Amino acid sequence: MNPNSRIPKDKCPDSTLRLLKEGYLFIPNRCHIYKSDVFSTRIMGKKVVCISGATSAEIFYNNELMTRKKALPKRIQKTLFGVKAIQTMDGMAHKHRKKLFLSIMSKDRVELLNRITKSLWARHAKEWTNYDTLVLFDEAAKVFCKAACIWSGIPIKNADAKILAKDLTAMVDAFGGIGLRYWKGRLGRIRTEYKMKQIITKVRQKKLTVATDSALYKIAFYKTPSGKLLDPNTAGIELINILRPITAISTYITFGALALHQYPKYKDMIAKNKLDPYLFAQEIRRYYPFGPFLGAKVKNDFIYNNYYFKKGTLIFLDIYGTNHDERIWKNPSDFYPERFNFWNGNPFNFIPQGGGDPSTGHRCPGEWVTIMLLKSSIEFLVNHLSYDIPLQDFSYSLRRMPTIPKSRFIINRVKHRP
Ligand code: HEM
Repeated sequence: MNPNSRIPKDKCPDSTLRLLKEGYLFIPNRCHIYKSDVFSTRIMGKKVVCISGATSAEIFYNNELMTRKKALPKRIQKTLFGVKAIQTMDGMAHKHRKKLFLSIMSKDRVELLNRITKSLWARHAKEWTNYDTLVLFDEAAKVFCKAACIWSGIPIKNADAKILAKDLTAMVDAFGGIGLRYWKGRLGRIRTEYKMKQIITKVRQKKLTVATDSALYKIAFYKTPSGKLLDPNTAGIELINILRPITAISTYITFGALALHQYPKYKDMIAKNKLDPYLFAQEIRRYYPFGPFLGAKVKNDFIYNNYYFKKGTLIFLDIYGTNHDERIWKNPSDFYPERFNFWNGNPFNFIPQGGGDPSTGHRCPGEWVTIMLLKSSIEFLVNHLSYDIPLQDFSYSLRRMPTIPKSRFIINRVKHRP
């Protein structure tokens, strides 16, 4: 191959509808057809180069080659992330803002969040014994949303936590949605940004007192490199960047409960201390689909795999395909938590929450939080909760982004075993 090899081009003049139809498999399908980790296509009329695999992830997280500026469509900013949030930033300003997020996730603070979450699981489980039937996804979202608020320093009543959990979940669900799904996410964001802006203002006016190491305090009084406080709306948006993803761990819990049901051997092994729930949590993050791909733009022209990447080109990095790449994972379609005993810890070959170094790039700062909460919640489901699982539709569609088992995991006759 010479350095001027042409990037394989998707045949369809515009693949937007195909992306919506094929969902998580859109990039892996074409990598398979073109026998390449790289191909170009058109989405919403724009040229996009899709890349997959560990080596591609390393390129994607090279700050000299890629930028996030103008890479995120406005529709995603207006639902999932918020306009001009950390996800859209670059360079020094991004690093500075990222330091704020990482300081919120200190070891002690993450352990505190874990304790709060565990005690909320226990408290809610006692209430669930009064109900015939529950939807685990909805209940987990309420638990995580409340835990996130208490931990962050946001005062919240039970009834408000229910609404907030729904709004935060709707923001995530809007990702690949059109019509009602999109508008629910948009409305959820408008309502939540308004509430968070008011809370930030109250803290700044000392009408609400919070611990100085809480997320609310740190975000409210964070100063940009130019020494200015964030405007209250942007501060509210960054606070949502804490609450929304913690609440979204409910998706992994739902898949986790499904895995315990479909692979009972692992439930038994966790109960008998024969399998570290950490391994189980990691395999949930690898095996089940959540984020499908990430977007960035080429910052400076470069050559990769003998292909020329031109400045300004939009790039999609395939998360789902990389986590199921046969070159990295033996039998990727098997659910096999033990595989993580042999994982080499490469920051680019397992990317459910992004790759590279979280302090210098865009990798998720909440990865350890996610693993810890997922691990302790799975232990709770196994060791402290018994429930019946009625007949229901557990299937999840790889066409829907984000996806979830259709029934969202219905349980009944719940019993709490303290
Ligand atoms: C449900 C589990 C989670 C998933 C699947 C997830 C996934 C991701 C992904 C794919 C990214 C983008 C990485 C990139 O752009 O390169 C990201 C970024 C981010 N996540 Fe998470 N995340 C989760 C949990 C969390 C938690 C618990 C927090 C905070 C408490 C959090 C806060 C953030 C923030 C602030 C960013 C933006 C980082 C940046 O742009 O520098 N996430 N996450």
